[in-house]
Amino acid sequence: MSEGVSQPDRPEPREGDGKDLFSKFDDVIAMREGLLARGVEDPFSLVMEQVLSPTRAVCNGRDTILLGTYNYMGMTFDPDVVEAGKQALADFGSGTTGSRVLNGTYQGHKDVEDALREFYGMDHAMVFSTGYQANLGIISTIAGKGDYIVLDIDSHASIYDGCKLGDAEIVPFRHNDIEAMEKRLKRIPEGAGKLVILEGVYSMLGDVAPLKEMVRIAKENGAMVLVDEAHSMGFIGDNGRGVVEDAGVMDDVDFIIGTFSKSVGTVGGFCVSNHPKFEIMRLVCRPYVFTASLPPSVVATACTSIRKLMHGSNKRAHLWENSRTLHAGLKKLGFTLGTEEPQSAIIAVIMPDLEQGAGMWEALIKNGLYVNLARPPATPANMTLLRCSLCAEHSEEEVSQILDIFERAGKLVGII
Ligand SMILES: Cc1ncc(COP(=O)(O)O)c(C=O)c1O
Repeated sequence: MSEGVSQPDRPEPREGDGKDLFSKFDDVIAMREGLLARGVEDPFSLVMEQVLSPTRAVCNGRDTILLGTYNYMGMTFDPDVVEAGKQALADFGSGTTGSRVLNGTYQGHKDVEDALREFYGMDHAMVFSTGYQANLGIISTIAGKGDYIVLDIDSHASIYDGCKLGDAEIVPFRHNDIEAMEKRLKRIPEGAGKLVILEGVYSMLGDVAPLKEMVRIAKENGAMVLVDEAHSMGFIGDNGRGVVEDAGVMDDVDFIIGTFSKSVGTVGGFCVSNHPKFEIMRLVCRPYVFTASLPPSVVATACTSIRKLMHGSNKRAHLWENSRTLHAGLKKLGFTLGTEEPQSAIIAVIMPDLEQGAGMWEALIKNGLYVNLARPPATPANMTLLRCSLCAEHSEEEVSQILDIFERAGKLVGII
């Protein structure tokens, strides 16, 4: 609210006013107030006053190492990427003010779709305004009433929301459980449409799906397969195409969903596919049609970044090195981790409870290290996690500083 604008007195709620629709949030309000009452810094409203590089920012006046962004390949400050954005802003203006199917398709939107087709070696690419909308749009449009969606129970919220919007029957199975997935598939009535939805890397624990077996079983049972590669694009696989590439199942997957908000370093979402009828999606997919397209500067940065990621093998190798060093170092310090071995750029440190998790988060930030504090319902099995996500631009020295800070904070809070 701006200063100097007087606000009218608000009447107090009275009996008989009816149910307060906000009462459903009382538990979350109580959790947050309980946490803040203990005097800890609020983990959910951190402000980055200055961003210095993909791995450093000034937070609360402190120079801070960033270990909780999705900037896996460190593209946000790449000079070519930044220059492409500036040029598009100058040449095409600040926004399109329209839907892709009306006035919102500029040359840049076609260029980034070409880059995606080349990156994945697929026939079709369709860009959405976010990855959330890509899942919402593709899932709800292809799987409707009477169809069945078999999905991992730990799927991202955008996958669940896409399922709800389309009104298909949802059949979840236990996380990464191949047998459970097969059992569910075999129970689906004869003749019904079937879609299996998997993620390459699951973002909470940083573990990878057994895609080779799962995709084979899905196909043997007549299902189409969609894989969300949000957390593996650019990094996993020889060409950075994700876990589908690493598992050798590129040709068997019907749809790959991805985002520009992680390795690509900007914002936007997409789906790539070899389905011969895929282009019809541009006319029937409501979260694509009924929203404005991405600004020209955003698609220009995405296009340049994706083309550079095609040649990112050195960065990929360094990121794997970082992931192995951090995982081994945290394990040696005595922290409990989400995976036995490093499987991706995400390393989850399991906290005993939210109270100690928040205490540890605060000790880290006060020592100049930012990680994500993740808690239910976003986390599996009611876990509180300190989620560390590494960047290809973290230097060896920074990884060693990160381990020092974890050791100091862990001892201070009494977790190690
Ligand atoms: C697995 C997965 N899918 C989709 C998304 C949505 O991506 P976006 O940030 O582009 O909306 C996310 C974001 O965190 C994600 O983790």
